[in-house]
Amino acid sequence: MQNTNKKPTVCSFFSGGGLLDLGFKDDFNIIWANEFNTEAAKSYQSNIGDHIVVGNINEIAKDMSKIPNADIYIGGPPCIDFSSNGANRGEKGVNGQLTWTYFNIIKAKKPKAFVMENVAGLAQKHKGTLEKLKQSFNEVGYDVQVETLNSAEFGTPQQRKRVFIIGFRNDLGTSFEFPNGNTHFVTVKDAFKGLSSPQTIKARDKVLGDIPNHTATWTNPSPERIKDLYINPRPNQRVGLKRLDWDKPSYTLTAHIAKDGREFLHPDEDRRISVREALRLMGVPDSYIIPRGVPLNQQYTLVGNGVAYQVAKALAIAIRVQLTNVDKQIKQVSSLNGYKAKKEKAEQLSFDDLLLA
Ligand SMILES: C[S@@+](CC[C@H](N)C(=O)[O-])C[C@H]1O[C@@H](n2cnc3c(N)ncnc32)[C@H](O)[C@@H]1O
Repeated sequence: MQNTNKKPTVCSFFSGGGLLDLGFKDDFNIIWANEFNTEAAKSYQSNIGDHIVVGNINEIAKDMSKIPNADIYIGGPPCIDFSSNGANRGEKGVNGQLTWTYFNIIKAKKPKAFVMENVAGLAQKHKGTLEKLKQSFNEVGYDVQVETLNSAEFGTPQQRKRVFIIGFRNDLGTSFEFPNGNTHFVTVKDAFKGLSSPQTIKARDKVLGDIPNHTATWTNPSPERIKDLYINPRPNQRVGLKRLDWDKPSYTLTAHIAKDGREFLHPDEDRRISVREALRLMGVPDSYIIPRGVPLNQQYTLVGNGVAYQVAKALAIAIRVQLTNVDKQIKQVSSLNGYKAKKEKAEQLSFDDLLLA
């Protein structure tokens, strides 16, 4: 059994189905998480752990003592108000305000470090909010680094640009650097290896077949309609139909996949991709299984909302390295202090005392 006591502790916010947490799980001890969507929380519980608390963070944060202290806090507040595809209301939107809820929690609880994830729009159209966040974190004692990372450069078969704000408490003297990516891209073909045509069974109890979460129960438009539109293209009628390319990483998956499956069509079958295919495109290992009973649209939503596994993992390792160095330094300083204290005491003692000591 692994000794989890030695791992730094984590509290996770806006945890969804736990895709970000999946990358932190091996190197950290996640002690608490929060999500208000019960269906996403079911998947979190079954894949990450029982420590998930279902509830609205705005209510929970009214009493900060309900949130445990931990070495690091991680979370991706909802992005819809910062996304070019979404409502775009910015920080004033109900969802946009949650970035400030998360800020206030960090300000009150002062973890050693934090991770805040959001869509690239936060560093573009909503750059003003990002600057305000950075400044506010500086004012409450954090050194902050911001980077837009593309998951395709970390080995995920998907072009997915997300902004990561990483802060370390400035009394720790850390020098965090974002991990580097590379340009060796993993393709859709690599990602779908070993997946056959999914079952088209509707019955809920058959959802967990040979390959869990690999069903195609919904097509709108129908396969016949898709085929027809591809063979006989008519102006405007193919708008929104988008096929993945076998030889490239996927384009960005979004929570919209739950509604607009037509934008995420299989490279050569006339259907939207299955949930398992979507998970593969997020780089998520097949050991992650969304449990029986979570409605299909919720399954797609939690995948489209998630953080690519390889990016989460790379960040987890980079943060762990910093925290391990900090722990080493703290140990060195305290043993040095111990030595100094002994020396000072010895200097106060007389020669006779020393002989007796
Ligand atoms: C972008 S998703 C986070 C996905 C997660 N980081 C992952 O990798 O799987 C944001 C999540 O915040 C949740 N959420 C939105 N408002 C919330 C609130 N007021 N309290 C708690 N959770 C909330 C949503 O249900 C959604 O699952």
